[in-house]
Amino acid sequence: MLYSPDKIQSILRDWYDANKRELPWREVTDPYKIWISEIILQQTRVNQGYDYYLRFIGRFPDVISLASADEDEVMRYWQGLGYYSRARNLHKAAKQITHTFGGKFPTDYHEVLSLSGVGDYTAAAICSLAYKQPYAVVDGNVYRVLSRLTTTATPIDTSAGKKEFAALAQQLLDTVHPDIHNQAMMDFGALQCTPANPDCVICPLKDYCLARQSNTVSQFPVKQGKNLVTNRYFHYFHITCGEYTYLHKREADDIWKNLYEFPLIETGQDTEFGELSASAEFQSLFGTLTGVKILRTFPPMKHVLSHRVIYARFYRVRVSSENECISSFLRIRTNELNRYAVSRLTERYLEQD
Ligand code: ADE
Repeated sequence: MLYSPDKIQSILRDWYDANKRELPWREVTDPYKIWISEIILQQTRVNQGYDYYLRFIGRFPDVISLASADEDEVMRYWQGLGYYSRARNLHKAAKQITHTFGGKFPTDYHEVLSLSGVGDYTAAAICSLAYKQPYAVVDGNVYRVLSRLTTTATPIDTSAGKKEFAALAQQLLDTVHPDIHNQAMMDFGALQCTPANPDCVICPLKDYCLARQSNTVSQFPVKQGKNLVTNRYFHYFHITCGEYTYLHKREADDIWKNLYEFPLIETGQDTEFGELSASAEFQSLFGTLTGVKILRTFPPMKHVLSHRVIYARFYRVRVSSENECISSFLRIRTNELNRYAVSRLTERYLEQD
């Protein structure tokens, strides 16, 4: 139950006017630019997203330039942001707009929702910010603000919670200024109604906030359960043979699909080099070769993703000739490595190489 939506809206508007962040995608009503900014911001904090946005828009300023780009290049501009399926979907959706909508960004909410990688949140953001259509956005900030204002304890990571908060957000939406309202909710959640230690004393909504009145702010929003995290153990071989090195393009339909990586052996648990070198995979990679030299063993790296933790060991190996297994990889000049999009993990390795 939400009390005084009109009053809350006007407080939010005033607060936004005085506190809003000046961001490049707020200067525009171009749906393409708003779309790109929203997808980038699903990935990263506003500060880091800023640079990615400017770089991406600099290279792909409109739907046509994105649709006609090579996927590898799009991935390179996304490199480091993670969740690479989002970049693939951007590219796919740009082609969809070209083919299905004649190159013009759709204006109908359901058509926007039909684009690859566009869900309720992104469609609402595009339609409200670009076209001032009355769709409320619901992101992590909005869940926090609404759950505290109303002490709604339905877990936000359940379908019942999602439905209930979507209805609450829509009920609170200022339909005259949906663009300002949505941005205000996001900034209010990010700057005032923060996850930890919000300064409720100075909060302009404190008289309307049921959590504040019952001293339960830190208990909201309620979540049902944390995601199960799995561990994986990767051993990467940065092999050089003369001026060449070897890569593999990941085809598996996972978060690193279509990114390049060094030849990889995965083990079920953390494995030291001695044991690894006796494995069948290692033997198939190097066993038939003479003149294999392990030049450098890097300290193990821990790489945390949302659903898994990767423990990675990188080895720098020099071989004097190729065998059948090594020649099955993509052979590239070592000094052209930076032309290939790689995961943030591999990028971290290359930074210390
Ligand atoms: N986070 C996601 N979208 C945003 C936006 N448009 N402004 C500020 N923060 C955001």
